[in-house]
Amino acid sequence: MAVIAKQCPEYKVIVVDINDDRIQAWKSDDLPIYEPGLQEVVEEARGRNLFFSTDVAAGIQEADIIFVSVNTPTKTFGKGAGRAADLQYWERTARDILKHSNGNKIVVEKSTVPVRTAEAMGRILNSGAGAHRFEVLSNPEFLAEGTGIRDLMEPDRVLIGGQSTPEGQAAVEELVRIYEHWIPRERILTTSVWSSELSKLVANAFLAQRISSINSVSAICEASQADVTEVSRAVGMDSRIGPKFLNASIGFGGSCFKKDILDLVYLCEHYGLPEVAEYWAQVVRINDYQKRRFVRRVVSNLFDTVVGKRIAVFGFAFKSNTGDTRESPAIDVCKQLAEERARVVVSDPRALGNARADLADLGSQIEYERDPYEAAAGSHAILVLTEWEIYRTLDYKRILASMEKPAYVFDGRNILDHEALHAIGFNVVPIGKAPLTSL
Ligand SMILES: NC(=O)c1ccc[n+]([C@@H]2O[C@H](COP(=O)([O-])OP(=O)(O)OC[C@H]3O[C@@H](n4cnc5c(N)ncnc54)[C@H](O)[C@@H]3O)[C@@H](O)[C@H]2O)c1
Repeated sequence: MAVIAKQCPEYKVIVVDINDDRIQAWKSDDLPIYEPGLQEVVEEARGRNLFFSTDVAAGIQEADIIFVSVNTPTKTFGKGAGRAADLQYWERTARDILKHSNGNKIVVEKSTVPVRTAEAMGRILNSGAGAHRFEVLSNPEFLAEGTGIRDLMEPDRVLIGGQSTPEGQAAVEELVRIYEHWIPRERILTTSVWSSELSKLVANAFLAQRISSINSVSAICEASQADVTEVSRAVGMDSRIGPKFLNASIGFGGSCFKKDILDLVYLCEHYGLPEVAEYWAQVVRINDYQKRRFVRRVVSNLFDTVVGKRIAVFGFAFKSNTGDTRESPAIDVCKQLAEERARVVVSDPRALGNARADLADLGSQIEYERDPYEAAAGSHAILVLTEWEIYRTLDYKRILASMEKPAYVFDGRNILDHEALHAIGFNVVPIGKAPLTSL
């Protein structure tokens, strides 16, 4: 919404949220999320044509177009628990819109939702006395955290799904006009509502599938002495496959991939397609397997026991350039190490607050230390779990001198110079390639 406000000064954008803390933070210098470039975009538009408020009713009344971007987590209860999307926040919003509307509105699905949600929303919204008409569009968000502003300024595509009726098409054109302010028309795709809704789930499923595919290959590489970096380069140079998303790692995280695949799995089951459901479910299973495999590798290299050993975790966010830790693989890795009774020290430049909340149950078994040098001091091993750029440029000689020996680096993102680390005396255990160990 901040980018729309920046690019379209003649539109007034009001962001409303029921969470007062978040709205206050959006009004302050300390925004509630970290995203490169976001602060500047917000500061440019805030107070001019971008406003933040907790007055949901007034926001609804004033708006001609309402983007609904509420959370759609995986259901934790009842039918579909653990797989289906929990649409309670979406439905509540639809009912709020119906209750407070004083004119016709276009309602845009920004949240990621199961196929045919727009249809259900349309039925709720148009169930009133018929005084006002609501046109529901699907406009899924494809931005990736960490590169959100760039992705919004120069998207590969913008997708808008609408009904084929004249009213539906007029609403689609209304939304196209907003994006046309800065995005070439040929990058704005218009489809049916259902294709648009499904495309978002499928895009995330394909991205996550590539990660699980290369991670499954990393296991074969470790067993067969092949090198996953060499394999992924050779495979990715095939123009039909392409090089992106082929980095082996400890696994994918983030609030979307797992929940969206599980949602797809649930939809497949719902439509009586168990083989298709099983195919996509395996992507999530391989991701869990990869995290467990990584911890097993840590423990077995550390002489089959980590009891009482200090282990430094470099990076807790689910990826670099974000403070977001939702579904971060580091959560499972730290919990599994704690089960093995290690003393884990978590370091991260942006995510320590979230890490504390995620690992609160583990109490004093986990320490939190922003400075990676302090975290590593006295440790038996460093685990690189997030690909933060700063970890490439640390003074590893100084770090080695402060650690217990033999000192290990487990590079869960394959970002460090393994040969150089080995040359100065580290035992280095990457993902999907032979360890460089001596002592
Ligand atoms: N985070 C991403 O990178 C990303 C990318 C693409 C799509 N999405 C999708 O966007 C949606 C939101 O994701 P998010 O990461 O921003 O979630 P979030 O949980 O960080 O934010 C959702 C916000 O909605 C507010 N909310 C809930 N119910 C409300 C109501 N009835 N009225 C007003 N506000 C209400 C919450 O207070 C919260 O601040 C999800 O469906 C997600 O799948 C997220």
